[in-house]
Amino acid sequence: MKAPVHVAVTGAAGQIGYSLLARIASGQLLGPDQPVVLRLIEIEPAMQALEGVVMELQDCAFPLLNDIVPTYDLNEGFNKASWALLVGSVPRKAGMERKDLLGINGKIFTSQSKAIQDNAASDIRTLVVGNPCNTNCLIAMNNAPDIPHDRWFAMTRLDENRAKTQLAIKAGVEVTSVKKLAIWGNHSATMYPNYFDATIDGKAIPEVITDEAWFKKDFIPTVQQRGAAIIKARGLSSAASAANAAIDTVKSIITPTPSDDYFSVAVHSKGEYGIEPGLIYSYPMQSDGQNLSIIEGLDVNAFSQEKIKATEAELSEEKSMVSDLLP
Ligand code: NAD
Ligand code: LMR
Repeated sequence: MKAPVHVAVTGAAGQIGYSLLARIASGQLLGPDQPVVLRLIEIEPAMQALEGVVMELQDCAFPLLNDIVPTYDLNEGFNKASWALLVGSVPRKAGMERKDLLGINGKIFTSQSKAIQDNAASDIRTLVVGNPCNTNCLIAMNNAPDIPHDRWFAMTRLDENRAKTQLAIKAGVEVTSVKKLAIWGNHSATMYPNYFDATIDGKAIPEVITDEAWFKKDFIPTVQQRGAAIIKARGLSSAASAANAAIDTVKSIITPTPSDDYFSVAVHSKGEYGIEPGLIYSYPMQSDGQNLSIIEGLDVNAFSQEKIKATEAELSEEKSMVSDLLP
């Protein structure tokens, strides 16, 4: 039997937490032979709700669930964690942009990252889901200077999954036929789902979807505004699909990427594709199962260049909005 891996999840009593925890405990995050300890972090007023979540997890009798640690103490919460999934934060309401949450949510990520640095396992990797996730991740990374930059991630996989599904519907194929669709930049209305390199059943996109106007008129805005469309329809932001994307992200990070595909996650930019170094920017990525690398050398046409710079500009603006939270 393998030693259990400790997975810390913040906002564990929230709606994403509710969709996420049973999936982690059942082996969908780290594999069917990997025991886990769930370290569930909430704010104090939510501890009673968290108790209910813990009871439900216990009642599932998951063979891989070694232990559950519910807490509002960050040091206890991140102790021994090899993965930290930072979900806990306030979601936006209809009419807001995600960056409008910076004033409320940004500061959460200073104390949490200090606690991660002080208590987590030496192989800690952190995925920020709470919005605006790129800039929250930037805050967290900069407040934990002892943790290498390549251990910090912000989630844009939900946008990739949305984009792949839209392409599959348009082409009339299974979603598994769509590969190499990466989200560039910010998890926001400026994100750029770059369809120029995508393939459908191994064919270049223009060979399969010939309606060129559709990409600019429908596809890009649908992906960019999907979060808002869900809030409008549900009165609440996405939860099951967000939890699913968090699982997909971790799996893609720890699994070798098939040679005919890549995946999206926002990482610390070192200036690749001319993006401002230091930003947490979503790129097309590949993994060898241990280490990640940005797919380099892709052709960026004039249309794409404009889009990847627009989303970079928004990230720079967000960075300047949180300068007081950056040491
Ligand atoms: P929710 O309100 O249902 O749950 C959030 C939970 O976080 C609550 O239980 C709350 O008590 C807890 N919380 C708040 N502050 C905390 C703190 N400092 N420490 C620990 N826990 C804290 O919200 P949700 O629907 O689960 O969404 C959570 C976040 O995820 C939001 O910011 C939302 O916008 C974001 N989100 C991101 C993506 C993405 O693709 N990156 C997708 C969906 C949602
Ligand atoms: C999403 O994309 O669904 C989330 O980021 C929630 C939101 O505020 O749109």
